[in-house]
Amino acid sequence: MLDPTSSDDVFVVHGGAPLRGTVRLSGAKNSALKLMAAGILCDGVLELREVPAIADVPVMADVLRGLGLGVDLDLEANTCKLDASEEPDWHAPADAVSRIRASLSVLGPLVARTRRARLALPGGDRIGARGIDLHLRGLEAMGATVWERDGEVEVHADDLHGALLTLDFPSVGATENLLFAATLADGETVIDNAAREPEIQDLCRMLVAMGATIEGIGSPTLSIEGVDRLRPTRWETCPDRIEAGTYAMAAALTGGDVVIERVRPTDLTLPIIKLRAAGVVVEEGADSLRVKAGELEAVDVVTLPYPGFPTDLQPQLMVLLSQAAGTSRCTENVFESRFSFVEELRRMGADIDIDGHHALIRGPAPLHGATLTGLDVRAGAAGTMAGLVASGETIIRDVHHVDRGYADWIPRLQALGADVRRVPAAQLGAADA
Ligand code: UD1
Repeated sequence: MLDPTSSDDVFVVHGGAPLRGTVRLSGAKNSALKLMAAGILCDGVLELREVPAIADVPVMADVLRGLGLGVDLDLEANTCKLDASEEPDWHAPADAVSRIRASLSVLGPLVARTRRARLALPGGDRIGARGIDLHLRGLEAMGATVWERDGEVEVHADDLHGALLTLDFPSVGATENLLFAATLADGETVIDNAAREPEIQDLCRMLVAMGATIEGIGSPTLSIEGVDRLRPTRWETCPDRIEAGTYAMAAALTGGDVVIERVRPTDLTLPIIKLRAAGVVVEEGADSLRVKAGELEAVDVVTLPYPGFPTDLQPQLMVLLSQAAGTSRCTENVFESRFSFVEELRRMGADIDIDGHHALIRGPAPLHGATLTGLDVRAGAAGTMAGLVASGETIIRDVHHVDRGYADWIPRLQALGADVRRVPAAQLGAADA
């Protein structure tokens, strides 16, 4: 469970044990946070299930409470009830908003429901510039006036109307915010070059259950006909495909044999293709995957918006490829600074060269333990994985990043047989500090 003192904890990892057993996936982080934001649109109580016990969820709950919503979050039961029967406040509280980038997801719902919004420009992972120009330009095309000043953005849209929006890039966050705004706008909105990640499909389907009119779900063109109000519903968050990919790669990396339950294999088509090409045995069930180690071989991978290979699995993949025979090429196309993790991996002995957004990984290179710091949510998981095959002891600092995206990361790895512990940083000896 989440520990409020967790940011001072570290992970201590000893390598060598193959992961074996079964792991059941949590609800997807990148779905749950948006489903929660959709609570703003609901004229009544929205009931969410399979809400993951990750640190970003209570922060999002705080953002929504700050807007006046009634929030009943139970992370033990993985449920969240959101009550926006009363019209929300339109000024989001800066302290919570600045802690996670996903809080930007309240922008579209607020503009839709109250025709205005003011929020601090959000925080989150330090991976690249992560602008919000596509969100704001889209809202302007729908009749909004936008100001940015003193680290805040303010949007007024008394006449919020449908528009034809062609995105420069299929941004996940921009697609979601414009979709939210369009659900209660006057007339039809078409979002072209829309992102179509499974989490966006999940959101679209829930909005339809709430009474929204959306066509083209799962395609690059979404057509939304605005309605007057959205009504309460109950919804189960889709499983976390990034968590699935992480455990799959950890199993393959450690020479293990792991069954992943509550997974949708169709959400992971390209990662499964790449794992198989890398020599990993992947058996697909209707809602499960069995991942067994094989002789790891080099593969080339390019990250792209869905259905491309997810950038959120790239650091974990780099660890896997560092142990594969031959030279792999990995190209990062979504976040320019996502390779910052490579420097940490190199300090553990990985043989990786970076040229712009391309990486050359030569393997297998024996890894040795090190102290890793300043990682983002995915790099923190990847660092833990590197520790699982390194000689000696690996220490992961700043573990609050991992808490943002992985529910019970350490207990679940322990249940699979890993030699990992979470301890207060103060318990480490001076040599580790
Ligand atoms: C979401 C996910 C994140 C994932 C990413 C890409 C959540 C909470 N986070 O982030 O885990 O890694 O999708 O799959 O769902 N960009 C702009 N201007 C914009 C919007 C985006 O330049 O207005 C750029 C960003 O700087 C980035 C790229 O587009 O380089 C991708 O961003 P986007 O798809 O919007 O990702 P997020 O929604 O931030």
